[in-house]
Amino acid sequence: MALKITVIGTGYLGATHAAAMAELGYEVLGLDIVPEKIEMLQRGEVPMYEPGLEELLRKHVAGIEGSTGRLRFTMDWAEVAEFGDVHFMCTNTPQKHGEYACDMSYVDRAFELLAPHLTRPALVVGKSTVPVGSADRLAAYLAAHAPVGEDAELAWNPEFLREGFAVQDTLHPDRIVVGVRSERAEKLLREVYATPVAAGSPFVVTDFPTAELVKTAANSFLATKISFINAMAEVCEAADGDVVKLAEAIGHDERIGKKFLRAGIGFGGGCLPKDIRAFMARAGELGADQALTFLREIDSINMRRRGQMVEMTREALGGGSFLGKRVAVLGATFKPDSDDVRDSPALNVAGQIHLQGGQVTVYDPKGMPNALRLFPTLGYADTAVEAVRGADVVLHLTEWREFRELDPATLGEAVRARVVLDGRNALDPALWRKAGWTFRAMGRPTA
Ligand code: UDX
Repeated sequence: MALKITVIGTGYLGATHAAAMAELGYEVLGLDIVPEKIEMLQRGEVPMYEPGLEELLRKHVAGIEGSTGRLRFTMDWAEVAEFGDVHFMCTNTPQKHGEYACDMSYVDRAFELLAPHLTRPALVVGKSTVPVGSADRLAAYLAAHAPVGEDAELAWNPEFLREGFAVQDTLHPDRIVVGVRSERAEKLLREVYATPVAAGSPFVVTDFPTAELVKTAANSFLATKISFINAMAEVCEAADGDVVKLAEAIGHDERIGKKFLRAGIGFGGGCLPKDIRAFMARAGELGADQALTFLREIDSINMRRRGQMVEMTREALGGGSFLGKRVAVLGATFKPDSDDVRDSPALNVAGQIHLQGGQVTVYDPKGMPNALRLFPTLGYADTAVEAVRGADVVLHLTEWREFRELDPATLGEAVRARVVLDGRNALDPALWRKAGWTFRAMGRPTA
């Protein structure tokens, strides 16, 4: 009989995973403790902007016309325990307030609520990004608290999806990593992922700590790559070099690779910043803090870029104070094709300039409601052209396609001064300069 799958925690990761499991042909039951989330999902709606996700949900959610009906949602833990052969745990692990460490309370709570209902054999699979050692602890918890005892087994299966590509990354992962303690667990997970494995996704089997570490190591590497090129941008700025050319040239070396070498205002979002900090905190607890002190530098380089963008803006306005200056900001989300503004470098820069007296107007294709909630005191406009109206300087801070397709001549009619600063190295300088703009980008020569 086909496996029955549950997904516990239906945020970004869980909602996508649930829809993907239904797409792979399984009967899926999703659970969340927030009633509004469940009601939305039951209507086939998602609480965030993620290309393709709503379509995939609507294709499978029971009760929606024409759907396969394979995907249902509930708030009932007993129902979930009764239903599932495999339970995917997808609760979030944010940064603790005032500390670097990861807040495990949502994960722990989910295990506490599920375990007492586990009266039949099941595989519980952790997907959240957790401090190494958590799986070991949670396995012991399950064995002690599930009525079925050792037949409630744990596995760890980190998730590598990127926002904006969540559906594609979940259905066609570039690797599947499973931390297991038995052949039975490995066999079950090979069965769950049979379709992507047959299509070529590598399947890597590890122990618990390695599976947990793969995720934090991958994100640390990505953060390091971005901060490396941003450090090169700082040197290029000092030496009048061009970091975009530099990245292109070193990227031809296959050992280095082209990807994740875009210099600019740095990384943000709900993952990279908090994951590298939690990793440092955990290494400290394990007595291995020296191994990760370089991540402190990665974090500092990254945060410095935001300040550098503010200073570049000040310089473009002739130096001195922002008082009375109009600053247009294109982009609010931490990356394009997302409505996520968590730890967004773009909003951080907009906020800093606003706090120093600048009149900031922000436009973003999808992130406006979230930005407005987080920074209600910033100015907002409904279109890019409205945002730049009367501006003394235009900042390009999130690399949406819409911004690359803007016509510099049309925009030029609306501004007070044709000065544009590219914080993402994504606009074409020649195009803007031809339309009479003063164009500056991070880590690139001024002329
Ligand atoms: C990241 C990881 O990529 C993913 O594998 C993991 O599961 C979750 O964390 P995500 O947070 O969606 O995914 O964003 P990502 O695409 O990695 O971008 C992170 C940040 O880095 C963005 O703010 C982006 O603008 C920035 N970035 C990316 C750069 O500044 N330069 C680059 O070259 C690439």
